[in-house]
Amino acid sequence: MEFVPLVMSSAMTHPSSRRRALTVLAGAGATGALAVVVLPAARLVAGPAAVAGGERPWITVARLHELTEGKPARFRVIADLKDGYATARQQPLGQVWLIRKGIEVTAFTATCPHLGCTIDLASDQKHFYCPCHTSWFDLDGKKTEGKPNQSLRGLDPLPARVSADQRVEVQFLRFRAGTASAEVLG
Ligand code: FES
Repeated sequence: MEFVPLVMSSAMTHPSSRRRALTVLAGAGATGALAVVVLPAARLVAGPAAVAGGERPWITVARLHELTEGKPARFRVIADLKDGYATARQQPLGQVWLIRKGIEVTAFTATCPHLGCTIDLASDQKHFYCPCHTSWFDLDGKKTEGKPNQSLRGLDPLPARVSADQRVEVQFLRFRAGTASAEVLG
C-alpha cells in the first residue's frame, strides 16, 4: 500500500512562491544532533526513509504559524492510501509531535518506541511522556536521565521540512517497537 500526500485546500496554500523550501532533517536518530539544510523544494533529503530503501511522499501536517516557538504540538497525519487501483481518501496514518525553532521544525512520531502507545506532553511542558508503562523523554527525543523509562531507545524522529509557502511537511514512517535501535518498517 502506498501513501499519497494530502493535498491541501486552496485556502491553506500561498500562491506567491514555491521557489525554495527550508528543509529540516530530523537526524539519523534521537541521540544525534539534528541536521538543518536548505534545499530546493523539489529535492528530497536523506533520512530514515533512505535507510528504508525508498523515498516517501511529503505529507502536509500543519502550517508554520500554527506552531509556537519551542512548544511541542501534536498533529494528525492524514493522507490518501493507494492500493492497486483503489484509493482510500483522507486516511489517518498516525500522529506527530512538531517543535518549532524559528523557521525550522523538528518532528517525532507520536508512537512510543516501547510498545506503541501514544506519546503525550508531560504537564511540565518540558518532557514527552508515555503513560502506558511510564517512560519519559526530553524534548530533543532523548530518554530523560533520572526518570523511569521502559523504552530501549529515544523517540523516533521523522524527516520534516517547511516549504516556501509555510507548510510543515513530514515523511511519515513506522518503526519497530521494543528495539534498541530504530528500524523502519515497510
Ligand atoms: S508503550 Fe510507551 S512506555 Fe510502554
